[in-house]
Amino acid sequence: MKIFVNIFLGFFIFETVDAVPITDTVIYDSEFYEEPLGELLHPFVYFENEQSDQLETETGTALPSVTHESSSSSPLAEEPEEEASTPKLIDGSSALGSGVLRPQSHEDLPTCLLCTCLGTTVYCDDRELYVIPPLPKKTMYFYSRYNRIRRINRNDFSNLSNLKRIDLTGNFISEIHEDAFRRLPQLQELVLRENRIRQLPELPSTLTFIDISKNRLGRRGIRNEAFKDLHKLQHLYITDNNLDHIPLPLPESLQALHLQNNNIQEMHEDTFCKMKDFNYVRRPLEDIRLDGNPINLSKTPYAYMCLPRLPVGNLI
Ligand SMILES: *[C@@H]1O[C@H](CO)[C@@H](O)[C@H](O)[C@H]1NC(C)=O
Ligand SMILES: *[C@@H]1O[C@H](CO)[C@@H](O)[C@H](O)[C@H]1NC(C)=O
Repeated sequence: MKIFVNIFLGFFIFETVDAVPITDTVIYDSEFYEEPLGELLHPFVYFENEQSDQLETETGTALPSVTHESSSSSPLAEEPEEEASTPKLIDGSSALGSGVLRPQSHEDLPTCLLCTCLGTTVYCDDRELYVIPPLPKKTMYFYSRYNRIRRINRNDFSNLSNLKRIDLTGNFISEIHEDAFRRLPQLQELVLRENRIRQLPELPSTLTFIDISKNRLGRRGIRNEAFKDLHKLQHLYITDNNLDHIPLPLPESLQALHLQNNNIQEMHEDTFCKMKDFNYVRRPLEDIRLDGNPINLSKTPYAYMCLPRLPVGNLI
């Protein structure tokens, strides 16, 4: 019952906040699944497999009771509507002029008028932005998907010591200042999908999740040992980039490596495992995708011995 109310409310809130992002489906798992519901309930979390399954089950069981409840008890059906109007007041764009907007401090005003600030999350999706707007100091989660941003400057994210997530999917970013992400002590998730990035800048060692799929990294966009010191990195997605090599070394913490649709032709027996140590086991690395590359995985039969699963790719 409680679950159903939560989901029902969540759905209503989401439906009415039209400024809140499009829930486009980004497929990260090898077994494809959609996650729009997950994203609206927990906008900052990429769901792991089990969680998304669980959510689907919950929805499945909750739905019948929705119809049942709303037809039998009217007070309950009205509640969500009142709830639903609340987020609109927070939306800067619609609140302008109506006097309901109360930014936390004066300096936050412009960005929270242009974008939607909910707590420590700033949503700037689909605002036709050409630059990264100045962010409130306390920002933890920043979404600016589907804009026209072309570059990330040195100071765009400076002094944002709480920033945990940056999502700039679907912009025209081709240049990133070498130090743009350097002084972000809390940054965990960096999503730069669908841009025109040719060169990855220095990355902070706190990152757990990186997605730079659908960019133009090519042969030289990733420097040597770029991921070596990211000791917390669990998910690394670099699909569709015309990469011609697997970036090494990969941190031991890595769980998922998606490199499909690149130009990788070769791999060594030592790429994932250690030929000098047959007892070595690389248990976390469960999800390797190399399909869509001109590589014949059968040529390196010892390269997968330490892995819990074979990579997905051409094995014939
Ligand atoms: C960052 O903070 C420091 C010290 O608080 C200040 O001197 C500097 O101007 C700030 N930088 C930016 C770009 O706001
Ligand atoms: C892949 O490599 C194996 C072993 O060298 C070879 O037998 C097989 O024919 C190759 N497959 C293709 C499609 O080239």
